[in-house]
Amino acid sequence: MCGIFGCILKNGNAAPIIHAGLKRLEYRGYDSVGEATIHENKLFIKKDEGQIDDVHTRRNLDNLPGRIGIGHTRWATHGAPYQANAHPHTDCTGQTAVVHNGVVENFMELRRELEELGHIFKSKTDSEVIPHLIEEKMKEGLPLSEALRETLNRLEGSYAIAVVSAEEPNKIFCARKESPLVVGVAEDAVYCASDIPAFLPLTNKAIIIKNGELTVLNDKGCETRKIADWTPVSREPEIISWTSKMAEKHGYPHFMLKEIYEQPLGLKDTLRLQESYLELMTAFLDRAGEVFLVACGTSYHACLAASYRFSKLAFLATHPIIASEFVEQHGRAVNIDSTILAVSQSGETADTLAAVEHARLRAATVLGLTNVIDSTLTRISRVYACQQSGPEVGVAATKTFTSQLSVLAQLALRLAKKRGKVSHVEIERLEEKLEHIPEIAGTMLQSQGEKIKQLAKKYRDAKCFFFLGRGISSATALEGRLKLLEIAYIPSIACPAGESKHGPISLIEPGFPVIFICPKDETHKTIIGNIMEMKARGASIIAIIEEGDEKIKSLVDDYIEIVKGVPDVLSPIIYVIPLQLFAYHMALERKCDPDKPRNLAKSVTVK
Ligand code: G6P
Repeated sequence: MCGIFGCILKNGNAAPIIHAGLKRLEYRGYDSVGEATIHENKLFIKKDEGQIDDVHTRRNLDNLPGRIGIGHTRWATHGAPYQANAHPHTDCTGQTAVVHNGVVENFMELRRELEELGHIFKSKTDSEVIPHLIEEKMKEGLPLSEALRETLNRLEGSYAIAVVSAEEPNKIFCARKESPLVVGVAEDAVYCASDIPAFLPLTNKAIIIKNGELTVLNDKGCETRKIADWTPVSREPEIISWTSKMAEKHGYPHFMLKEIYEQPLGLKDTLRLQESYLELMTAFLDRAGEVFLVACGTSYHACLAASYRFSKLAFLATHPIIASEFVEQHGRAVNIDSTILAVSQSGETADTLAAVEHARLRAATVLGLTNVIDSTLTRISRVYACQQSGPEVGVAATKTFTSQLSVLAQLALRLAKKRGKVSHVEIERLEEKLEHIPEIAGTMLQSQGEKIKQLAKKYRDAKCFFFLGRGISSATALEGRLKLLEIAYIPSIACPAGESKHGPISLIEPGFPVIFICPKDETHKTIIGNIMEMKARGASIIAIIEEGDEKIKSLVDDYIEIVKGVPDVLSPIIYVIPLQLFAYHMALERKCDPDKPRNLAKSVTVK
């Protein structure tokens, strides 16, 4: 989310080069844009809300003087996309400009502290604390690189930043922690950017900046140091052999695969939501007479999983409802005591918005969870939270689903705390586990990726699949089935495993593939019974199991293992990932384009 581009040219104007670099990063975000250049020891800035082309038409982004500059294309996380919130942000003196990608978690404390020292803030962003902190340190007499280092030591969260200043007009100062940043080196220029595609048409020599490093670009190249102990780092440029098309997808053949593999990072970002919003949402949920969880498609599956968590952790019964049915099913029951939590990645799905409008007319409280700040849902919600997954290009939702699950888990945990129904020890254990979920997702992808590809080869000709789970894993099963259905066009059935006896089992004949989602939770024993029922009828069983679950291993034809110790309420976040990958590889096996499934749209704006 958010794209950064900067350059120092030996000759010529930086602004058009920055503009073109930002265009190549537009897939990282596109709600506002800005550039800052340095010329004759002065800082020049242009920034505005809107997509790059629109802003360029209005303000001519190429018309800034100087051979050194930085730019930013924004994906709003804190503060709606309007001009003051667009990057670059400056300090009070107007000497230093900063572009930032990431989330400064402690920005509220830092902002308060800086305001007490007399700093005037112009935006609502977390990022603006950075130039003011630098200014404060420079006032103490530190050179810019050290002022930046001291600033970075105060930031909690993630960042990739680039800084230019009239104080040191021939340099760009960059640093990163978790958010990506790369340097490109050419004969006549040096670049910094969020991603390689931004400078690939200009140079194929890249230096990857690592976590916890600060690098200063100058006319000769770049000098890098470790932020922690200031030791110099020497790293030779790598030659990048990607074509521009490959680079857009980071070398992955499809956006969907790239987005599946982005989940560990996305899940980390999702853990950095602004506490105040979650707290407010929790307060509304706590006092609601009844709670409806309203959404479509994948987002509905997130709601379904959430309903198990609200019940288990906060003893709150909620109604997960498919948005297009909401008015018919519950319309008249909605009243001033009802709370609607609408979940929509895009924030624009017509059915979800229609349900919300109906609820608003009946004076219900509307809470929103979305990935797009300033989407319609954020405007019509009483309180909203942004899931911070960054743009998702693949039509089939993947990383945005696991992020939704994570935010909803955070909400359920907060509500549990507030209601005091579950012990503090248990809540702390779950919170700690949630912190480790990104890591577990990474391990899962690394260890099981190849095995899942082979599974897809084995089952490529299957005509139909069953997806079965119990408890919260019913939601995982539904989502696994949706992925397979939408991108590999395989008609499939998903239902709670207990329900399979009431109809679906009649389809089973020898060789019929059944995918079981079997975390080691309270449903484990019963699901073994369901596996036996299917096995007795000759089904081929594939199980997603916890590592070392010998009992299930001995019963099934194939299995995918997930690291031990994922608590049941968090299990869908991890257990759905192999199903996403399976659907992806099945689509490839069957020669379907996973990024562009037929008849589907990323955002459905008609009812
Ligand atoms: C479409 C998309 C799905 C998505 C659903 C709901 O059907 O193809 O991937 O889950 O809309 O979208 P929303 O933006 O409201 O989450």
